[in-house]
Amino acid sequence: MSVTALLGLQWGDEGKGKMVDALGSDLDIVVRAQGGANAGHTVRVGETTRVLHLIPSAMLNGHVLGVIGNGVVVDPLTLVRELDALAASGVLVEDRLVLGERAHLVLPWHQALDEAMEIARGAAAIGTTKRGIGPAYMDKAARNGIPAAWLTRPKEFAQRVREDLEQKNLMLRALGAKALDADTFLPGLLAVAARLAPRVADSVGLLLDAEEQGKRILIEGAQGALLDLDLGSYPFVTSSNCHMGGLLAGSGLPPRSVGRVIAVAKAYCTRVGAGPFPTEDCGAVGEGLRRRGHEFGSTTGRPRRCGWFDIVAARFAARTNGVTEIALTKADVLTGEPVVKLCTAYEVDGVRTTDFPGAALERAKPVYEEFEGWSDDLTGHRDSDALPQALQVLIKRIEVGTGVPVTLVSTGPERSQTVLRSRSA
Ligand code: GDP
Ligand code: IMO
Ligand code: MG
Repeated sequence: MSVTALLGLQWGDEGKGKMVDALGSDLDIVVRAQGGANAGHTVRVGETTRVLHLIPSAMLNGHVLGVIGNGVVVDPLTLVRELDALAASGVLVEDRLVLGERAHLVLPWHQALDEAMEIARGAAAIGTTKRGIGPAYMDKAARNGIPAAWLTRPKEFAQRVREDLEQKNLMLRALGAKALDADTFLPGLLAVAARLAPRVADSVGLLLDAEEQGKRILIEGAQGALLDLDLGSYPFVTSSNCHMGGLLAGSGLPPRSVGRVIAVAKAYCTRVGAGPFPTEDCGAVGEGLRRRGHEFGSTTGRPRRCGWFDIVAARFAARTNGVTEIALTKADVLTGEPVVKLCTAYEVDGVRTTDFPGAALERAKPVYEEFEGWSDDLTGHRDSDALPQALQVLIKRIEVGTGVPVTLVSTGPERSQTVLRSRSA
């Protein structure tokens, strides 16, 4: 049971990158298992802030091996850009990175199709990140995808790209989009393939062996439980399972290897893109959270929708994922709010419930409990007993409501601003 899984408990951007990095000193291996460059995981060490899209966040710790697992969809051009940007800032990760041979590639037509399909959806657009994620998983599920193993066979890869592009251009034209010309991107793609080929390996075998040797492994989830393809607010979801099941299938690690399931949750809620969000506050409270929490997308820069913490949704996510502990982030953003609200039930069609609805979520109206706020600056705190009493009360209510202990509290974006919470607190 040497594996820890870490996932988002809400609609993404909970602070997973920050927490993974903070846990990095106690890890041997960090694995991304699903999603792709739609993720934007922010890590701040000292004064330097970095946003990682494909490279696992704990790799900023110089001893940690990073794995891009079989369940990830990888845009090789983005990956190389990210490696170069890190190297330029003095962080060398390339030799410690393994790219799973079974991971599927995101290629230029996937981004073009993502964009064209969003335009075709019109008012029903999902608000995707346009990183080609949905189309890449479509190809994977349809058995038309190109796994990363092809990067090691340049001639066959080039031919396959040309052949596939003919099909994809038919689709692009049918959607009213411009066809792509392989000559404009193939030379660059082949250069990137040559660079990445030595990194391509059997990540599943590597992880199984490491687990048997008792290596400390963390699976870094992307997106969040409520964006899960099966359990999220479909169709306003991403195209992978951000659920625990996706973290296992996307790494190849067996369920019994996982000892801890850490869910990262913000002390309030945010969402980017369209879809139901019962506690969304479109007024001054939401505006204040966005401003103080710098709630603008790490990948797209879009303003995030903001609202109060939703215990009904968090309990559902905790139960479906078998969460063993919660890491609570961004409580410092609530500092100064005279009253802090938690949504502890919904009213759906006039009936009060604490069960998280499926299709009826868009009709759910939040029922709030109000709590006294606090004015102490949390950002210097390193001791959980010293956290303000009002915050302790709020945390207790979250624990009772979700049925999960809060074991970590993040009090700021920096790696060291992380408080281990003693059970007595
Ligand atoms: P992720 O996608 O879950 O990794 O989250 P993002 O990086 O997209 O968004 C989280 C944002 O909150 C980033 O800007 C982090 O630097 C920041 N952050 C993380 N934890 C804290 C915290 O406890 N307090 C504050 N103020 N910011 C935090
Ligand atoms: P991290 O890992 C927040 C959202 C998009 C959109 C929907 C589908 O940083 O938490 P997609 O491009 O995946 O097809 O978009 O999912 N989304 C995210 N929202 N954080 C993310 O990742 C997200 N990845 C995708 O905004 O609503
Ligand atoms: Mg993010």
